[in-house]
Amino acid sequence: MNQSKDTNAAIWKSDEAVQNWTSTAAERERQRGAQWRFMGELLPFGEQDVFTFLDLGAGTGAAAAGILSLYPRSTAILADFSPQMMDEGQRELMPFAGRFQYVEFDMLKGDWPAAIPTTLDAVVSSMCIHHMPDDRKQGLFAEILEHLAPGAWYVNYDPVTSADPLVAATWERRNDRDDPAAASKRLNRTPEDQSRYENHVRYMIPLEQQLDYLRSAGFQGVDVYWKQLENVIYAGRRPV
Ligand SMILES: C[S@@+](CC[C@H](N)C(=O)[O-])C[C@H]1O[C@@H](n2cnc3c(N)ncnc32)[C@H](O)[C@@H]1O
Repeated sequence: MNQSKDTNAAIWKSDEAVQNWTSTAAERERQRGAQWRFMGELLPFGEQDVFTFLDLGAGTGAAAAGILSLYPRSTAILADFSPQMMDEGQRELMPFAGRFQYVEFDMLKGDWPAAIPTTLDAVVSSMCIHHMPDDRKQGLFAEILEHLAPGAWYVNYDPVTSADPLVAATWERRNDRDDPAAASKRLNRTPEDQSRYENHVRYMIPLEQQLDYLRSAGFQGVDVYWKQLENVIYAGRRPV
């Protein structure tokens, strides 16, 4: 494992990283719209159902916005530890005013703030579980289960790794088709880019390990419901 200092918090709480994230949002959301819809459709709700869901590591609220759009009578709690991401999210989620609330929460800590209801109708997360060390992935999955109503679902969209170098190389080769400059960028990283990259991937782990964590936490119906190269959507529900 990478032994250098974990700079995740410093990155997400920096104005520069958040400006960078928002400046690339339009292109990112063009690619991810279908995933938000799919995650929403995995939830066992009718279009007019009234329910409350939690978006963990919500950032500017992209996943929550997708689900709020799909279910016009739903409300969202968005949890994150970055004031900058939450400020930006407050602006971006203006079309959903009155239907969402941000809560400051550091997922590295197991003490969930009182502003998160003790019983939730669904929990989603996207692109943030890979920032958690393995013990916190396991702890968080158990805490999520505990906060779900019986029969309620947790859905996560995240990148995974592969232990098979051929698989990893195939993902990379296919991804490079979308960004012809990627190979050259990879080979010519500045030391700063390299340490940022290493920090980014430090806690990424294979899919099977994460599915095992979910099953061990007590989730049912655990599966990878969607997958494209290294990106997956897996889910499970709290037993009824
Ligand atoms: C890659 S962004 C994803 C944001 C959003 N879920 C999305 O997909 O657009 C990662 C998010 O996780 C949040 N995050 C990272 N570590 C966290 C932690 N320990 N506690 C709470 N939020 C965290 C960051 O602040 C950031 O908003």
